[in-house]
This record gives sequence, structure tokens and C-alpha cells, in this order.
Amino acid sequence: MEKQQIVLASNNPGKVREINACLAGTRFHIRPQSEFNVIEAEETGLTFIENALLKARNAARYTQFPVIADDSGIEVIALKGRPGIYSARYAGPGASDADNLSKLIEEIRPLPEAERTARFVCVMVFLRHADDPTPVISQGVWDGLVIDEPRGLDGFGYDPMFYVPTHNCTSAELSPAIKNKLSHRGQALDNLIKQIKV
Ligand code: IMP
Repeated sequence: MEKQQIVLASNNPGKVREINACLAGTRFHIRPQSEFNVIEAEETGLTFIENALLKARNAARYTQFPVIADDSGIEVIALKGRPGIYSARYAGPGASDADNLSKLIEEIRPLPEAERTARFVCVMVFLRHADDPTPVISQGVWDGLVIDEPRGLDGFGYDPMFYVPTHNCTSAELSPAIKNKLSHRGQALDNLIKQIKV
């Protein structure tokens, strides 16, 4: 079976690893945008969907293949949804995962357990080409709690502080396969793939 080549509009190694694992064995072959020397789009949108579309359209301009882009982040309900779309740059431009994690831990430390509700959100889009007027869109949400003592070594980003009540551990303590089954990104990708007809 000839695989459908799709460009992934992300340079985040954690995301690329997870999306590749989810699509292994399907009819899709993912090629990272780094193969096409894509210069990253500026994320000027105010919502996940706006930023996902900006990233996808930008990558599509560099290649002749369809593109998948994801915009994702963590929302703490008591912080009015922060860091939200700013998750990757919460501690400032060029911040590392560790910087962002420390900043959020300091912010949630004073919150009582009842106010630790949080969720990971992922919006994914598929564009057939840069001018595609009907992008395929999907969204995944993963509910949990934020904790101020990080645990676990797997995953990336905020995983060590995202407690998953159904599994009594953080998302950094889940195996990659289980995380992909449960996660916002896994759900969004599953739903996106079901809708794609190329
Ligand atoms: P984006 O590349 O602008 O979509 O930023 C996504 C950011 O959200 C990442 O850099 C992480 O900080 C955070 N994030 C998104 N998904 C996850 C996840 O599955 N685990 C941990 N952090 C995540």
C-alpha cells in the first residue's frame, strides 16, 4: 500500500514523537517540516484554532504535500485558563520546558486541592494545500489536576505536574502508549484521521 505523505507542522520533538507513534501502521507517512526548511510561523492568534491554522498554512506554502498542525497547551481553570495558548512560551520568549513548568508550579502552589482542576487541550487541523478553504479540524481535551511536586520522566512539557486521577499518576509516569490513548493529542489525532479523505 502506498502511504499518503503528510507534513507535520511542528518542531517540538515531544509532539513529533507522539504523533509518529499514533500514526505508525496507518496509511499515513509523516514527514517533519524540518525536512522542508520551513521557517516557523509566528503564533499571533488568540485561540488554539487560529494558531493551528497559521502553522499549517505556513508549512503548506513550503511543500506540495498536505499538512497536519497541532496547537496545544494546558489550561488551569482557577487561573482563567492560563497558560493556554501561551503554554510553550509561558516563562517568556525562548523559555525551556523546565522554565515554564517552574513558573506554573509557583503559580498553583497557593491553590487548595479543590482549585487544581486543569486540562490539556489540542486542536488539530489538516490542510490539503495552503489555500484550502475547508480545513479538517478536530479537538481533544484531557481532564486532570495540577500538582506542585513534579513526578515522572516520560513525556515532555507540563507532563510531570499533570495528575491523571483515573490512573493515579502524572502523565509523565504513564507509558507513551497509554498516554497516546488517553491524551488530548491522541484523541484529536484519532478524530482527525477518521475525517480525512484524500
Ligand atoms: P505549541 O507548540 O504552541 O502548540 O505549544 C504546546 C505547548 O503546550 C508545549 O510546548 C507544552 O508546553 C504544552 N503541551 C502541549 N501538549 C502537551 C503534552 O502532551 N504534555 C505536556 N505539555 C504539553
